Amino acid sequence: MATSTDSTLTIRRPDDWHVHLRDHDVLRGVLPYTARQFARAIVMPNLSPPVTTAEGVNAYRHRIIAAIPPGLSFTPLMTAYLTDGTDPADIAQGYADGVFVAAKLYPAHATTGSAHGVTDVAKILGVLEKMQDVGMPLLIHGEVTDHDVDIFDREAVFIERTLAPLVRDLPGLKVVFEHITTAEAADFVDASGPNIGATITPQHLHINRNAMLVGGIRPHAYCLPVAKREKHRLALRKAATSGSPKYFLGTDSAPHAVGAKESACGCAGIFNAPFAIESYVAVFDEERALDRFEAFASENGPRFYGLPLNEETITLERAENPVPEIVDANGTPIVPFHAATSLGWRLV
Ligand code: NCD
Ligand code: ZN
Repeated sequence: MATSTDSTLTIRRPDDWHVHLRDHDVLRGVLPYTARQFARAIVMPNLSPPVTTAEGVNAYRHRIIAAIPPGLSFTPLMTAYLTDGTDPADIAQGYADGVFVAAKLYPAHATTGSAHGVTDVAKILGVLEKMQDVGMPLLIHGEVTDHDVDIFDREAVFIERTLAPLVRDLPGLKVVFEHITTAEAADFVDASGPNIGATITPQHLHINRNAMLVGGIRPHAYCLPVAKREKHRLALRKAATSGSPKYFLGTDSAPHAVGAKESACGCAGIFNAPFAIESYVAVFDEERALDRFEAFASENGPRFYGLPLNEETITLERAENPVPEIVDANGTPIVPFHAATSLGWRLV
């Protein structure tokens, strides 16, 4: 469906397969950025407290729908937050009722809002077996939390200790390895069956760990999983632009107020929603892979989830697109990804 000229690219309207929309005032401030670009988004459940039941997810879904700006069409695709105590029957019922489309596994204490996460995958085996039976996708934050494992190794060690055994023991389970950051993760996904996919964020395609640490500590480049060495960024660029149907767009846009980032203990999370599609298309352009952008942004995700492709289109044009230093999200100041730089593409 994609059409292009020297200066424009028209693709099916994309979806965001991993986003944090938060709640209440901030939700109303950040949702317009996502809804302006994406037809649908997989909404993460790590509120405080997290949304862990079909009832809680349904209430959150209604708060999101109420915050959609008039004139924009947007469908939130909801997820349930797995805990050690998650009831397999509640998960299966919520999935059957269409309240949520997937469940999210946060290893306990791996990242923002994960304190109630799963302490040991063995504890939720019943839930995972049920999900495998009904075809419900499991979305995984893939990092170990062991104190003796270096933060830059936590994703690779997770593959070895947790993900590979899980995929071996539940070979029919649909798994999305979320926001992958390493060559090891891409290798694992490539070597797995078609039921294992992965999302890739804009930041992990644009920056390596130097962006965080060279010339001063830069909290707005800090997210989890943390950006790794350059060789990993290059592996992710290769994966995203490879044409493989296993990789799809998932921004992991994770807004935090500027004061919560610029702090002695700054929060993890990069707010990339304002210019997400422009950020991704710039990467595909640099990699001379614009012809593969539509599959990554608009086709691979829905096909993996078994959902219809969007019929509307969006057009991107080559144009200077300055990114502000700060964005006002309905009263909360947040620094966006690419702040105070200019992107070479603009959503028309
Ligand atoms: C996310 C957040 O702030 O909710 N932060 C992040 O760095 N990505 C949580 C997460 O997805 O890890
Ligand atoms: Zn996330």
